[in-house]
Amino acid sequence: MPDMNDEPSCCQSSNPEATATKAAVPVWIIVFMLVVLFIGGWYFDQHSGWGDKNLYAPYSSAEQLAAFQPQSGDAAFAAKGKAVYESVCGICHSSDGLGKAGQAPPLAGSEWVAKDVISLARVPLVGLNGPIQVAGHDWNLAMAPMGAGLSDADLAAVLTYIRTAWGNKSNPVSEVDVKAARAAISGNQPSAADLAKLTPVERGHLVFKKYGCFNCHGEDGKGGVTNLNAKTAELVPSLIYVADGYNKAELIAFISRGERVIPRKNPNGPEPPHFMPKWGGVVNPDEMSDIAEFLFSLKPKGDKLDF
Ligand code: HEC
Ligand code: HEC
Repeated sequence: MPDMNDEPSCCQSSNPEATATKAAVPVWIIVFMLVVLFIGGWYFDQHSGWGDKNLYAPYSSAEQLAAFQPQSGDAAFAAKGKAVYESVCGICHSSDGLGKAGQAPPLAGSEWVAKDVISLARVPLVGLNGPIQVAGHDWNLAMAPMGAGLSDADLAAVLTYIRTAWGNKSNPVSEVDVKAARAAISGNQPSAADLAKLTPVERGHLVFKKYGCFNCHGEDGKGGVTNLNAKTAELVPSLIYVADGYNKAELIAFISRGERVIPRKNPNGPEPPHFMPKWGGVVNPDEMSDIAEFLFSLKPKGDKLDF
């Protein structure tokens, strides 16, 4: 084994005049300190807002923070519409509204966007499947009900945004319009009296259909649509085993909060396009309880997963 101590020591033999006890600062410490200084400087630049006392984590610029501030009337509505668009629709339809080949048609210049509010709202609320034409081009894809989990106010804001951005010029959509569209679309829902006669599992099944959960998770939750680069076998997961992973309170908490960031199969690959919407505030507490009972009932009888 080579021994470092075999090397002639610098200061004992060869050079008697050298200041023997004060060794020079090793180069690695200098490099290390420069790196720390650099990272610190970068971090300061990113996070400090250069001393602006109105800025705080996680915001790093005044513009970014401004986007989240309460604003008055129209400005607030427009800012919200853009923010909802970027987080819920833009991943497929793209920030410039031009869509993406093989993934989603354009919204800029689309006749669908200019339709009456009910026809337009139906797309994000119920989803859209199959061959359509947009601005003279054929598309044959499927869109899940990506907007079904949005509040009336958020959906109104995002629809107004797509109707007025990128040169589109249609009338804005109000919260009241969206409420009316939701009611018209869910048309022949059973009455409260009819619902009261059903078991929680039966009611939960209706709720599962009402909010279009099946559009992502598949018929009766038995297996969902393709979700490119999602860790869950590139599919929106089946729900038949949720009874093994959650108790009722946990399940309701999860559905209420949703999951915006879906774990990726390949960490360097693209963001999976389908995420779990946040249903709190959309699905009411009674429906939530019924949906949980329905999902628990899906577990195949006599099937026990032992870990
Ligand atoms: C996961 C990808 C995806 C997301 C996210 C998505 N869409 Fe779509 N969207 C599609 C696809 C695919 C189609 C075409 C469906 C077809 O071919 O029948 C479509 C069609 C549409 C259409 C009708 C056609 C057109 O281009 O005008 C509208 C309007 C629309 N989407 C609005 C929205 C809104 C609003 C949101 C956000 C709330 C949204 N979409 C989120 C994929 C997506
Ligand atoms: C737009 C697509 C979409 C819709 C609509 C949707 N989900 Fe999901 N859901 C997902 C995705 C994607 C995941 C996977 C989340 C993950 O991998 O972290 C998920 C996960 C879940 C899970 C957790 C499954 C597990 O094994 O941990 C439950 C429960 C669930 N969804 C219930 C529902 C219910 C109930 C509805 C209707 C009210 C619904 N989902 C509507 C996309 C959707």
